[in-house]
Amino acid sequence: MDARPVGAGRARQNAIYRAGAFGRRPKVPTDPTALEGAARRSMSGDAWAYVAGGAGDGATLRANRAAYERWQIVPRVLRDVSHRDLSVSLFGRSLPTPLLVAPIGAAGLVRRHADVLIGRAAAAVGVPYILSSQGSSPMEETAAAMGSSPRWYQLYWSTDEALVDSFIRRAEGMGAEALVVTLDTTMLGWRPQDLDRGSLPFARGIGIAQYTSDPRFKELVRERVADGGAARDIAGPRPRVTAGAVRTLATMARETPGPFVDNLRSPLPRAAAETFMAIFAKPSLTWSDIATLSSRTTLPVVLKGILHPDDAIRARDLGVAAVMVSNHGGRQVDGAVGSLDALVDVVAALGGAGSTTIPVLLDSGVRSGADVVKALALGAAAVAVGRPHVYGLALDGAAGVQAVLENLFAEVDLTLGLSGLSSVAELDPTILRRA
Ligand code: FNR
Repeated sequence: MDARPVGAGRARQNAIYRAGAFGRRPKVPTDPTALEGAARRSMSGDAWAYVAGGAGDGATLRANRAAYERWQIVPRVLRDVSHRDLSVSLFGRSLPTPLLVAPIGAAGLVRRHADVLIGRAAAAVGVPYILSSQGSSPMEETAAAMGSSPRWYQLYWSTDEALVDSFIRRAEGMGAEALVVTLDTTMLGWRPQDLDRGSLPFARGIGIAQYTSDPRFKELVRERVADGGAARDIAGPRPRVTAGAVRTLATMARETPGPFVDNLRSPLPRAAAETFMAIFAKPSLTWSDIATLSSRTTLPVVLKGILHPDDAIRARDLGVAAVMVSNHGGRQVDGAVGSLDALVDVVAALGGAGSTTIPVLLDSGVRSGADVVKALALGAAAVAVGRPHVYGLALDGAAGVQAVLENLFAEVDLTLGLSGLSSVAELDPTILRRA
């Protein structure tokens, strides 16, 4: 037995091979394509379409992956890599890995209490979980399941400013360490996979738990029901009684706080879904709205969905704590720039890899440890993982999410060491060449 310290990578390999020697194969595949395939087989058609789908023809999804293919790692040898340090520091907190769990709305399509399960898994590995505004559990419940482990809150800016303030207050109250404002979804992108099924989770009351648990939102729903004009499109006309309509009403009743039977009889669950659809996002959002945050919260503000270097500079000049380069996993603008390509330009605009004036975070298309290493080498301070953790959730609940995160972490560790580096701090563009 090797007495020297083994890093996360070797420990994970050993655990998997040891179990394999006794006939146990991993429930959650380590191969990204196999993970996706296994998850697909375990998910409903609507859930798969929502999670895996992208905007339009899927060109941005492809661009996200193609960008990683264009960079190759050039490993160095004969360096002592027996100790490896994967920690990074963000907003004054030291984190064991350069990974973040991306905010995913409506994960309740995949499993009930999805956010609580994801939160538990993220806490088990010490990876910050960015709780979504479109969460499937109230943020306080998810936070309670995470103990003191780091969590951030992702904000969709509603047209109702009092609701924005309420979300911010609740995020501060549940211990969020950063406020991530998503800028690329002032409207939903054109998503054929969902459109062709006529399927949007929120319209069925899935993914609106932050709203239905919010005092300001409840006020808005009551106002909407009380308002004669709005009441007509909420309480009636009643949908035609089909199996689908009955299922939707049952889902809405189940997803709304309070006794199921009372909810079935009440107009409120339907009114909540309608109210959400009316106020969810603000297409008129501008830089001046973002400027108001300095007086509305003490949390570090992260702007998510930055792709153009000029927007990154403007964000930095406005005083935000970090930007997150992201195209929302290819779900918003079809034909958009791959996020890794955008990262290169954003990092250059902010001072270059290793010396950006504010941290640059990244997501969209990250599938392997090698992807993480490339992104960090190109100047990302940390990297968020989206769909893969949802696939883990589909396959094995919290344990599945944990497996995905541990596999990714293990592969980062091994790739780093096998490239001749002992810490992520040593990563810079010199370890890469253009393919
Ligand atoms: C998302 N994303 C997202 N982003 C956000 O800010 N708030 C949200 O509620 C959601 N919801 C959401 C649902 C689903 C099903 C997906 C796949 C994505 C975007 C997400 O945070 C992240 O940017 C992408 O998932 C990253 O791309 P990959 O890793 O999925 O390729």
